[in-house]
Amino acid sequence: MRAAEARRLRWGLLPALALGCEGPGGGEAGRPRAALTHEIGREAAGRGEATLSLSSAIRCAECHEDHAREWRGSRHAAAAEGAIYAAMLKTTADPAGCDRCHSPLKGLVGAGSAVAAEGVGCEACHSIAKVAADERGVLAASFDVASARKYGPLCDAQDHYFHKMGCSPLHSEGELCGACHELEWPGPKGPLPVFTELSEWQATAGPTCQSCHMAGRTGEVARGWPGRSGRSEHWLLAEGDALAGTGIAAALAVTAGARGELAAAVTVHNSAGHGMPAGLPGRRLTLTLLGLGADGAVLAEEAVVYARTLGSDGVELPFTAASEVISDSRLASGERRIERWTLPGAVTQVRVRLSESRISPAQALWLGIEAPPERLIEEVSWTAPRRRR
Ligand code: HEC
Ligand code: HEC
Ligand code: HEC
Ligand code: HEC
Ligand code: HEC
Repeated sequence: MRAAEARRLRWGLLPALALGCEGPGGGEAGRPRAALTHEIGREAAGRGEATLSLSSAIRCAECHEDHAREWRGSRHAAAAEGAIYAAMLKTTADPAGCDRCHSPLKGLVGAGSAVAAEGVGCEACHSIAKVAADERGVLAASFDVASARKYGPLCDAQDHYFHKMGCSPLHSEGELCGACHELEWPGPKGPLPVFTELSEWQATAGPTCQSCHMAGRTGEVARGWPGRSGRSEHWLLAEGDALAGTGIAAALAVTAGARGELAAAVTVHNSAGHGMPAGLPGRRLTLTLLGLGADGAVLAEEAVVYARTLGSDGVELPFTAASEVISDSRLASGERRIERWTLPGAVTQVRVRLSESRISPAQALWLGIEAPPERLIEEVSWTAPRRRR
């Protein structure tokens, strides 16, 4: 069914529409109501001035308070202003090319607009009318920015004075996310895989991105309206119900070896719908193991890193400057990888930590930024049973 759906999106859609399919405005007589302070911008295609029905998240928050609060806490809200992003923009000859996903409406509303500064804001997703493959098979979104229609999963919602409703089954499909969460970079020696969430997820038979990342809650969708059962979470990485059941987990088993030493086996299981770590090459998951003696002394220390590393001549570089994949030790979706270590018999306690860092030390150094602190994902430990005297 997933494959059929992907094919439909790939081949079955009309060519991407240009700006707005319904003429400017959307209110009576084709003009927006005076009460609306929609952002006004210029049509990028150079067809003269056009009225854009786009608002800042501040307006949306008047009725969609919960969606707006969650979105503000998400990376999407920071997509145009992150420190790593800002540093990496300086390493590319075509920074405007990054806008396609980091601030998709910037070209229409202008760099000074709130809608542009909001990066992947409400409008960036809810004015998406279609996602279709271009001639190279790359999924791209087309935006309806003039009709004041907000596209979403509801098909029974009544048009409202502020905006019309846009019943859009696409908004419950992974391909919506895939319009941005897949990127092949044209390196000097050939294409390099940068973001691969879409293709990795398409190879699984699991649930959609939304069912893990935007798990539904019961609650009102708009202030004062009757509650609905599937209100979508907009944090995306919150310790939400569905996410909590998937992701990366480590299990530790310690057994006695043949010659008095100990055998430790750590099983790392990835139950996310894509490889982990996902996202930016250079993002790392680090598994560390400490073996402690009875007096607390460190008797063994081991570490293994899971990451996709791009660079040139074996030296790690940001993807914008890379020409080859140096290594890829990420955990595939569904994979259980077992790491085995032999520890001295005097070890009485084993501690295993799994942590994530947003960028490798090498890239942070190259970019001249401070790497954000590591985030602990999980810690498991083992204590030796007391010996009989
Ligand atoms: C004045 C109130 C109001 C404002 C402001 C508002 N909305 Fe809505 N919106 C509603 C109502 C009412 C519904 C329908 C709720 C229901 O039926 O449960 C809705 C529904 C939606 C839906 C679902 C549409 C569908 O067919 O699935 C989306 C998406 C949406 N709004 C996005 C936005 C965005 C983006 C903004 C800011 C640009 C915004 N809204 C501003 C009142 C508002
Ligand atoms: C218009 C482009 C676009 C669309 C559509 C989009 N994303 Fe994103 N997403 C981004 C960008 C850009 C970032 C990175 C923001 C940053 O950290 O600078 C991001 C970040 C994320 C993150 C956080 C990653 C992290 O490292 O913390 C998650 C999770 C995510 N997106 C999931 C989704 C899901 C699920 C969907 C579909 C419902 C989706 N995205 C749709 C562009 C998009
Ligand atoms: C990364 C894309 C993305 C961004 C950014 C985003 N949304 Fe959504 N939104 C979605 C998707 C996808 C759904 C439907 C999820 C599903 O069907 O499981 C949705 C659903 C909705 C709905 C329909 C009711 C519901 O809860 O399902 C409303 C209303 C809504 N969003 C409002 C907003 C507002 C307001 C903002 C900004 C503060 C915003 N969204 C930002 C992708 C986005
Ligand atoms: C089976 C559930 C599941 C599905 C399906 C799924 N994800 Fe995830 N995803 C996760 C979990 C769990 C994480 C890790 C969350 C964490 O680290 O807190 C994650 C992490 C991410 C991240 C951030 C990576 C990082 O290391 O911080 C992005 C981006 C992302 N997912 C995008 C997507 C997109 C896009 C899709 C669909 C094409 C998708 N996911 C499908 C469960 C899922
Ligand atoms: C096809 C869409 C797309 C394009 C084009 C794109 N990005 Fe991204 N970018 C994403 C997505 C999606 C994420 C979120 C994945 C994640 O971090 O988990 C992201 C994340 C990032 C991050 C990580 C941010 C953080 O704080 O962790 C950086 C840095 C970045 N992109 C830089 C760039 C630069 C520089 C360009 C232009 C040369 C660019 N991107 C072009 C989609 C895109």
